[in-house]
Amino acid sequence: MIVSLDAIKKPIKSELKEFELFFKNSMKSKVPLLDRITYYIVKSKGKQMRPVFVFLASKMTGSISSSSYIAASFIELVHTASLVHDDVVDESSQRRGFFSINALWKNKIAVLVGDYLLSKGMLLALEKEEFRLLKIMSQAVKNLSEGELLQLEKARKLDIDESIYFNIIRQKTAALISAACSAGVAAVTDDEELIRTMSDFGTKIGIAFQLKDDLLDYGTDNIGKPRAIDIKEKKMTLPIIYTLQNCNRSTKRRIISTIKNHSNDKKRVSELIQTVHSAGGIDYATLKMDEYKNQALKQLEKFPHSEAKSSMIDLVEFVIQRKK
Ligand code: FPP
Ligand code: MG
Repeated sequence: MIVSLDAIKKPIKSELKEFELFFKNSMKSKVPLLDRITYYIVKSKGKQMRPVFVFLASKMTGSISSSSYIAASFIELVHTASLVHDDVVDESSQRRGFFSINALWKNKIAVLVGDYLLSKGMLLALEKEEFRLLKIMSQAVKNLSEGELLQLEKARKLDIDESIYFNIIRQKTAALISAACSAGVAAVTDDEELIRTMSDFGTKIGIAFQLKDDLLDYGTDNIGKPRAIDIKEKKMTLPIIYTLQNCNRSTKRRIISTIKNHSNDKKRVSELIQTVHSAGGIDYATLKMDEYKNQALKQLEKFPHSEAKSSMIDLVEFVIQRKK
């Protein structure tokens, strides 16, 4: 059974409310253009899953502290910055059912807004001398950028295999979710073993999260951004990688030709989606997603029962069953 995100947030409801204000204030600027854009960002906010990971991780291992708020805000700032930059990189005009920042204000402004959000996060941690958090986040931002660049390189050459795909998603997505989980713990305890366990948990559920994202791209539901866009962007995700590795040479040639030369041809793209379905690409990616989900749940077994832990387990389920 899938538990709603609202129910999952219940043990940290008041903290999340306070966080929203903290997050909004953390973006404040005296530059009117920036203020207009950050107002728009707050209005088009997403599911705020990363702050939920931070607060639940803190609560599972101690009690939520002021460091938890700083961690949650820094992570949401970096997450927002990465999406603003990502929409420039991917030339996307839609995000969360709204126009993207680059669509409304153009690329040069979007790039600078992303930089500004990152700097505000760093300052937040620096002002409070949260050096551990700064270390966790610097590593995460390095991973995000590397993952994104590796993905771009592979989109050009189309020479991706399963292990490279997992490296990409580990870096571009799981790194920040892992940072959220380890920073949540580091905000309340110095216990290295606990911090490492939650970092591992975050990596596993982060990989499952991106597998789900890549599967949603093959679905038919409204997900607040265009679907079947990965093929158009020449983004090679697991369903296609699996199909390419398990089909005959002529099908392989046709798939590559669709991606390379006909990615705007609706008929060719829907034929490709059909091929992926019948080759078992969707089933295989779903199987892998479940494997990572189970590995994540295994890490949670190391923690004693608590309301926060129950919510974390429900969050794991939510990640892989969500509809958008
Ligand atoms: C979404 O992926 C994007 C990411 C998971 C990370 C993007 C990271 C960067 C652009 C580097 C950020 C650098 C700094 C300095 C903050 P996607 O395109 O697969 O998903 P989507 O469908 O939601 O766009
Ligand atoms: Mg994108």
